[in-house]
Amino acid sequence: MDVLVIGTGGREHALVRALAADPGIDAVHAAPGNPGTAELATLHEVDPMDGVAVARLASELDVGLVVIGPEAPLVAGVADAVRAVGVPCFGPSAEAARLEGSKAFAKDVMTAAAVPTAEARVCTSHDEVEAALDAFGPPYVVKDDGLAGGKGVVVTDDRQVASDHARACDRVVIEEYLDGPEVSLFAICGWSEADGTTVHPLQPAQDFKRIHDGDQGPNTGGMGAYTPLTWAPDDLVDEVTRTVLRPTVDELARRGTPFAGLLYAGLALTSRGVRVVEFNVRFGDPETQPLLALLDSPLSPLLLGAATGTLTDVPPPTWKPGAAVAVVMASKGYPETSSHGDVIVGTDTLTHDTAVHVIHAGTALTDGHLVTAGGRVLAVTAVGTDVADARAKAYDGVARISFPGAQWRRDIAAGR
Ligand code: AMP
Ligand code: GLY
Repeated sequence: MDVLVIGTGGREHALVRALAADPGIDAVHAAPGNPGTAELATLHEVDPMDGVAVARLASELDVGLVVIGPEAPLVAGVADAVRAVGVPCFGPSAEAARLEGSKAFAKDVMTAAAVPTAEARVCTSHDEVEAALDAFGPPYVVKDDGLAGGKGVVVTDDRQVASDHARACDRVVIEEYLDGPEVSLFAICGWSEADGTTVHPLQPAQDFKRIHDGDQGPNTGGMGAYTPLTWAPDDLVDEVTRTVLRPTVDELARRGTPFAGLLYAGLALTSRGVRVVEFNVRFGDPETQPLLALLDSPLSPLLLGAATGTLTDVPPPTWKPGAAVAVVMASKGYPETSSHGDVIVGTDTLTHDTAVHVIHAGTALTDGHLVTAGGRVLAVTAVGTDVADARAKAYDGVARISFPGAQWRRDIAAGR
């Protein structure tokens, strides 16, 4: 079977890498792709937001599966457009993707399904905002209702900053502050008329969202990640599957909009128990980099099973022993802006390293030079015997790569 992966980021490079190594896959196509995926896949030009164009490309290539990487095309219904021409597609429908596309919708589903999450108010006027800020008190959590690339959320003790952010959004969700460590738990979900919902959780991972060490500075898309979480409770996956993942997908099925694809539960392990911080409807970036580096069973049966309503026949994923760590290198100015065209050196020194690999995100090839072309430029991903070993290998890799203005956190997976 041939497969087509839609998207340009690190997540898509990690997916392409796993699929290229999958015995069930003959050829990998990627669109639009990046210089990293170009080494493993045939690249094609396409606008990922244009469902008709993506569906046409999938038909022309005669692929057996399309994998939509990012949230924006999913929310825009690109998976529906691909399925409409009869090509299996991994990724939820536009209706089900509202779990990520609207924070207010996600809250509504969670309330209906009794899923534990922060108490929240949806506000559309200044008075409602101020009343909600008064009610919850500091630290204030103010979220833009729509998609914002991981940057729509402000968590602050400063009332003025909270009010100003709310004022800059049309519709905001203001919610209770959740303390405790964050965990990303992903699940491959499928649905069929005959079998109902099937949920195959992956191993938990942790992401580092703030730009600076010690969780300082503004939120980013994610500056690094690792798996497994040796400190997490043993029953975490079972508990979250029972109290969060299943009730959510069952509620969507009950509404007549079943979820098939990857459900990403962003969780806080608070002093009062597990709470959902957010849902995403696609693989997380950069968590996917370490997760797929440790996945032992092939990826394609899970993706195809979810895409075709046969996930119940696919065994749950299995994992290699040890741990994996990804450290993101970002360009100058990120997350407010990004710097393009800075020459990146050193990635070639890792090409033959079996423990460390470079996942490309915001890179481009200009006149034969690898250059920066986005905020998060690349993720150095390493596998080791435990988190400390993988972490040391990832930072050795980072030390071999340089570009002007490079920023990376020094504390990814530290002390784990
Ligand atoms: P979100 O886009 O909803 O995942 O929010 C981005 C980040 O903001 C999360 O990963 C958390 O670090 C932080 N955050 C979001 N909601 C809350 C909350 N209710 N309490 C504390 N931190 C939060
Ligand atoms: N790593 C956070 C995200 O993918 O949204």
